[in-house]
Amino acid sequence: MGGTQYAGGMNRNTCRSSYKVFIIFAAWSSHVEEADEKHLAHEGEDEMVELAERFQNRFPQILPEVYTNSTFQFRYTATQRTVESARHFTVGLFGRRVSRQVWFPEATYRDPVLRFYKLCKRWQVEVDKNPHSLLERMKFEDGPEMSAALKDVTFRLGFNETMSTGDARLLYITCAFETAWDHRAQSPWCAAFSESNMKVFEYAEDLEYYWIDGYGYNITYRQACPPIKDMMQHFLAEEIPGGEHKAPAVVYFTHSGTLLKMLAHLGLYRDENALLHSNYHTMGKHRKWRVGQIDSFGSSLAFILFRCNKQLKVLTLHQEKRVTLPGCPEFDLCPLNALKEQYRESWTDCNFDHICGLPPEAA
Ligand SMILES: *[C@@H]1O[C@H](CO)[C@@H](O)[C@H](O)[C@H]1NC(C)=O
Ligand SMILES: *[C@@H]1O[C@H](CO)[C@@H](O)[C@H](O)[C@H]1NC(C)=O
Ligand SMILES: *[C@@H]1O[C@H](CO)[C@@H](O)[C@H](O)[C@H]1NC(C)=O
Repeated sequence: MGGTQYAGGMNRNTCRSSYKVFIIFAAWSSHVEEADEKHLAHEGEDEMVELAERFQNRFPQILPEVYTNSTFQFRYTATQRTVESARHFTVGLFGRRVSRQVWFPEATYRDPVLRFYKLCKRWQVEVDKNPHSLLERMKFEDGPEMSAALKDVTFRLGFNETMSTGDARLLYITCAFETAWDHRAQSPWCAAFSESNMKVFEYAEDLEYYWIDGYGYNITYRQACPPIKDMMQHFLAEEIPGGEHKAPAVVYFTHSGTLLKMLAHLGLYRDENALLHSNYHTMGKHRKWRVGQIDSFGSSLAFILFRCNKQLKVLTLHQEKRVTLPGCPEFDLCPLNALKEQYRESWTDCNFDHICGLPPEAA
């Protein structure tokens, strides 16, 4: 299902082809040991090439095979992983030879748009470095569900003494990564876990992401306005007749910490109840916040602007699948006006210093 066909199918003859695109990628995160990083990077490279090819197939008008400096605007943070992701993405779009000519602006480590949280003092103090953020996870790991899972895993492996959560978690992560590397191969480490054991370990991980990168504290997602504002400005430039037309394709390469906070800022995958150590019984099965799905290895968030009978509309894709943003119609593209309304504060009032400044007593 191509994106342009998709839009055409829904708004027969009313939507002209895609018009502008804004894509943000999270490089493969390496929560693994150093020895594995090379392997990880290698798989991630192939994935980026293929991802670029898929996006280009869907949106050939806005992601053409011919590179020019004025039609593509790339950007990455000053880290090895995002540089490599960007390079391989351009290989996928333009081929190996042309990709070497692609111009990238000088990267910064604390990019205010791509990695805003590195500049957010308040988030660092109140959330990232606050031991309280890990409390739900720690309580869950000391709780009855984890204890039963550990006994189970220990028994399956034939060990004498019940494994520690840390050791079992290492097995779980290795199983997850090896499965991601090669979907066909069954990682031997996965054999230690039953399906319900897996769910318990997954929940422990999700608890941490929820409280550090997600909905747990409002500062975490309130600070994520800069990339949203950037995207809106990119699209709003089209509303001004004779205004400055920037590159039709904006493609950013960043980190999963950015993407998760953006998803929460947009209001996606928000559960009615907070994820707690004590509500595995209800949240364990039917929650939306599942980091394994919403931020798997190498995720993408794409906004594609269409012109439909003079109206501008936006298609939002997360992990290449259509998602409905709050305030948008469920089975149609979202009018740009609806987005403007829904996220008005994000693009008109993104006062990062104000949001991220520490209250006087803590500064
Ligand atoms: C094109 O590349 C040059 C560097 O060679 C850069 O300074 C300039 O900003 C680029 N132009 C655009 C429109 O991106
Ligand atoms: C198994 O555990 C028991 C105590 O629970 C201990 O006495 C025994 O030596 C252990 N066996 C092995 C092989 O570690
Ligand atoms: C954010 O949460 C704090 C409590 O943690 C609350 O006092 C504050 O009003 C909230 N701010 C917004 C904008 O929702």
